[in-house]
Amino acid sequence: MTADAIPDFPFDRPTALEPPPKLAELRGQCPVAHVRLPSGDVATLVTRYDDARAVMADPRFSRNLAREGAARLSTTEDGGLFNRPKDGTADINEGPGHMRWRRLLSRWFTARKMEVWRPRVQSMADDLLDAMLAKGSPGNLSAALALPLPVRVICALVGAPSEDQDKFAHWSRTMLTLTRNTQEEVDQAYREFNAYVSDLVDRNRADPGDDLLSELTQISDAEDGRLSQEELITTVRGLLLAGHETTSNMIAIMVAMLLSDRERFEAVIDDPGLIPGTVEEVLRLDSTLSAIGGVPRFITEDVELGEVTVPAGTTLIPNIPSANRDPAKFPDPDRFDPRRQNSSQHLTFGAGPHYCLGQPLARLELQVVLSTLTQRLPGLRLRDSADDLRLRTGGMSGGLQDVWVMW
Ligand code: HEM
Repeated sequence: MTADAIPDFPFDRPTALEPPPKLAELRGQCPVAHVRLPSGDVATLVTRYDDARAVMADPRFSRNLAREGAARLSTTEDGGLFNRPKDGTADINEGPGHMRWRRLLSRWFTARKMEVWRPRVQSMADDLLDAMLAKGSPGNLSAALALPLPVRVICALVGAPSEDQDKFAHWSRTMLTLTRNTQEEVDQAYREFNAYVSDLVDRNRADPGDDLLSELTQISDAEDGRLSQEELITTVRGLLLAGHETTSNMIAIMVAMLLSDRERFEAVIDDPGLIPGTVEEVLRLDSTLSAIGGVPRFITEDVELGEVTVPAGTTLIPNIPSANRDPAKFPDPDRFDPRRQNSSQHLTFGAGPHYCLGQPLARLELQVVLSTLTQRLPGLRLRDSADDLRLRTGGMSGGLQDVWVMW
């Protein structure tokens, strides 16, 4: 680490789709570096693939930043989503309690189970696209498809009414603030989201269907009650948030990334066999989804990362977009190559004990959208130039502002 002035983080970037040049500079020269967060606190940014992977995969490192000495991320008094006390749910966040929680949920997210969802996701995508086409070109792809599709899917899977999508979107965005919301707004979003989910739990308990929440309520009511009411509420709130926010953003990013260099889109039209590889390259090359680039970890003992000893009490940020462009892992890393052999080894879904539970579903949704757009709208293009695309700022989750398309 250098003694130079500590740079402000997140870093500036030339255009929305290009990563900040500072990431490549640090990866080459100072792969474990101090940065200053919007809260004013200092954290340590980890930019190489092997180091970032090691940080995410190490079960000793805690995601709970509600601890003495952990860096606060956001400008709100609570320091943001990761710094808020875990009120009665710390047990499902780490260690054996977390493993039990994952076992309960993971059977809903196996690749096999997800294949059963493919036709449903396809028909939802077709309905949404029909509605966009009926309104005529140009269309706002973000509002017409990217946001509502993952919301409908996660609502059907969890057992929530998708008409409430505007509410989830509002609560999620407020909870994920970095700089744009006040503490009062954040607290209100938590209160409303919790009350909403609590009511949903009661309704599914009284009248169970074949959805995930109904199953979880039955398990939590069993004699050895495995999830408390608080844990159940946190789980459902987390799934509604994780299930739509990231995937919605990634669908819009995928469309922007492929249409800003149309050869990528045309390659899939010519050879639909490239769909999985194209989706993996989009996931690998994205740098906009998360403002800070990963979920931070707090370390309670000294750790060796490369040549550097990082002291206990440090908040580490494994930066996924930087790791995904590490030339030591992905040769010629900035090149978009749907035939790249190891692209699916990107860290966009994390690694280790917290590896994204929803990744088979997210991959499925991205593949269905790409296949549907290339088949039904081969002439699709961006309305504006790629340089006019704008990032959403002020939150931990980034993504693009509305992406408009023509056909
Ligand atoms: C493109 C879309 C998505 C991306 C990029 C993404 C990314 C991630 C990442 C990086 C993590 C690991 C966080 C960490 O290491 O602390 C994670 C965890 C998680 N994701 Fe996703 N995710 C996506 C979609 C989804 C979907 C659709 C769902 C739900 C249906 C979901 C549910 C979860 C859950 C529950 C965890 C926590 C797992 C645990 O702590 O054991 N994600 N996701």
